[in-house]
Amino acid sequence: MLKEEWLEKGFIDEPVLPGVDLKNEIRRLCEQKNAVVLAHYYTRSEIQDVAHFVGDSLALAQQAAKTSADVIVMCGVHFMAETNKILCPGKKVLLPDLNAGCSLADSCPADELAKYKQEHPDYKVVAYVNTSAAVKTLTDVVVTSSNAREVIESFPKDEKIIFAPDRNLGNYLNAVTGRSMMLWNGCCHVHEEFSVEKIVELKNRYPDAKVLAHPECKSGVLALADYVGSTAAILKFAQNDDTARFIVATESGILHEMQKRCPQKEFIPVPPLTGACACNECAYMRLNTLEKLYNCLRYEWPCVELDEDTCLKARRSIDRMLEISENMQK
Ligand code: 13P
Ligand code: SF4
Repeated sequence: MLKEEWLEKGFIDEPVLPGVDLKNEIRRLCEQKNAVVLAHYYTRSEIQDVAHFVGDSLALAQQAAKTSADVIVMCGVHFMAETNKILCPGKKVLLPDLNAGCSLADSCPADELAKYKQEHPDYKVVAYVNTSAAVKTLTDVVVTSSNAREVIESFPKDEKIIFAPDRNLGNYLNAVTGRSMMLWNGCCHVHEEFSVEKIVELKNRYPDAKVLAHPECKSGVLALADYVGSTAAILKFAQNDDTARFIVATESGILHEMQKRCPQKEFIPVPPLTGACACNECAYMRLNTLEKLYNCLRYEWPCVELDEDTCLKARRSIDRMLEISENMQK
């Protein structure tokens, strides 16, 4: 059954019959349809376990760019599925729940950026991958947290740059590269929640622990970190460093992979400043469930579509990023 029939039947979140072995069924459907499941480290552990590939934003884009699958299922958020569609316009790109948005991407509407660009015609635009396809069409180079520093440094020192949309990542990049990029005033609601207070509390309780932080965190939090990096870089650091205990200031989904790679080490998620929850979770990433993944493979819907012109224009800025990242790896 495809999208039209699904809609006709009024299915939004079709219940799965009891007794269905979701993991086996998902893998069987993938084989039958030549589909690949990509998942971000922030998704639920059961999604990460069933995915063919788990990675950070950069690795997911690289993986999509080289896949031979006919169908890509992006267990992540909407901008990630759009990135896959831009890279693979001929493939079917599915997102298990179309409501999986991103507060950071939402903080930069394309029309506002277009207006700002017009007011600053001599500036280049560097945009974080956490942006809509429409924003990417206005961008010179896209970056992820894995390659942002190198991409910025690939510009001449005196290049005038607008960096959008994450003010925290932008601030951090200005500090480490010595640039003075103009920063868009956006942020990720999850990383914005990490506080100096909670980290100091945890450091007092576990003085031997090292603090790992994602650059989407505020500058005060980053100042307390022993290591700042993208999700993939944080994972690598935790694996290679001899410290036995880490305080982790990023979305808590990453603890699943950390614990898998380093079973002897202890990882403590930094809780938000307020509320009873013990960890910070991205509600958008958590919208990906095994049931929705299964249904989306069965019905090949929800499907992410983009017009050809948007794909072509947005692709230039992503290709430029992939090119610079490839050179970094050489
Ligand atoms: P990375 O995957 O680049 O670490 O970014 C984290 C993030 O916020 C994804 O939405
Ligand atoms: Fe967006 Fe933040 Fe969620 Fe990442 S963690 S998808 S930046 S809202």
